[in-house]
Amino acid sequence: MNKLILMKRLMPVFFFLLAFPITGIASGTSVELMNAGNDIQDKESLRRGAHFYVNHCAVCHSARFMRYERIAHDLEIPEQEVMTNLVRFGASKITDTITASITAEMGKKIYGVAPPDLTLEANYRGADWVYTYLMGFYKDEKSPTGYNNRVMPNVAMPWVLASRQDSMSEEDFAQEMRDLTNFMVYMAEPIKPFRERIGKYILGFLLILLIPTWLLKREYWKDIH
Ligand code: HEC
Repeated sequence: MNKLILMKRLMPVFFFLLAFPITGIASGTSVELMNAGNDIQDKESLRRGAHFYVNHCAVCHSARFMRYERIAHDLEIPEQEVMTNLVRFGASKITDTITASITAEMGKKIYGVAPPDLTLEANYRGADWVYTYLMGFYKDEKSPTGYNNRVMPNVAMPWVLASRQDSMSEEDFAQEMRDLTNFMVYMAEPIKPFRERIGKYILGFLLILLIPTWLLKREYWKDIH
C-alpha cells in the first residue's frame, strides 16, 4: 500500500487518540465535582429554590426563558402568591419572564463581566458543576471581590451569600444550595420532571403489553411449528 494512503487511513486514529487529552484539558477536570444530590420530583425543594433564585440571584441574573406563569403551574403555587412573593424587578405580570434588576451594560461596568442569563446554565454546565460552584467560594485577599471560586478561578461574581453562609450551619447552607441547584435544573428544562414521571408509566405499560403480545405470538405460531 502506498505510504500516503496508509497515513490517510491512520489519520482518524491519531485524531481519536488526541481528542482524549484535549477534552480533558478543555473541561477542566482538575477539580472534582460534588454530587448535587438534587431531586426534580421534589416540588417542595423546587419551590424553595424558586424563592431563593428571585430573592438572591435575579438582581443580577435574568432567566429570560422562564415565565412566572409556568412556575406557578408546574410547582403548584397559587398565581396570587407568585405575584406577591416571586415577581420581581422589571416584571409586573404573571406572564412575564424573570428579569434582572441591572442591565448587562451596568453589570459589565460594575463587575467587568456581564452576569449571564441563567435559564440554561444547569444544562450547559451540569447540576454537579452548579452545586460545586455555589459551594466553592472561599476567601482570597488577592481577588478584587475578596473571594475566589474552586471551579471558576478568578470569577468576577461577588460572593453575595458570604454573610448568609457564615451565619448558618454547613448542613443548612448545603440544603439551600441543593434547592437552588434543583430549581436551576428544572428551569433549564421545565418538562423534565413530567417526562421522567411519564417515562416510568410508559415502561410499565410496555412491560404489561409484553404478556398479551407473547400470548398472541404463541397462538399464531402454534400451527406453523
Ligand atoms: C451582584 C451581582 C450578582 C449576583 C447577585 C449573583 N451573581 Fe452570579 N455572576 C455575577 C457575575 C458578574 C458573573 C460572571 C462571572 C465571570 O464570568 O467571571 C456571575 C457568574 C455566575 C455563574 C457562572 C456562569 C458561567 O460562566 O457559567 C453562575 C452559575 C452564577 N453566577 C450563579 C449565581 C447564583 C445561583 C446566584 C444567586 C445565589 C448569583 N449568581 C448571584 C454576578 C452576580
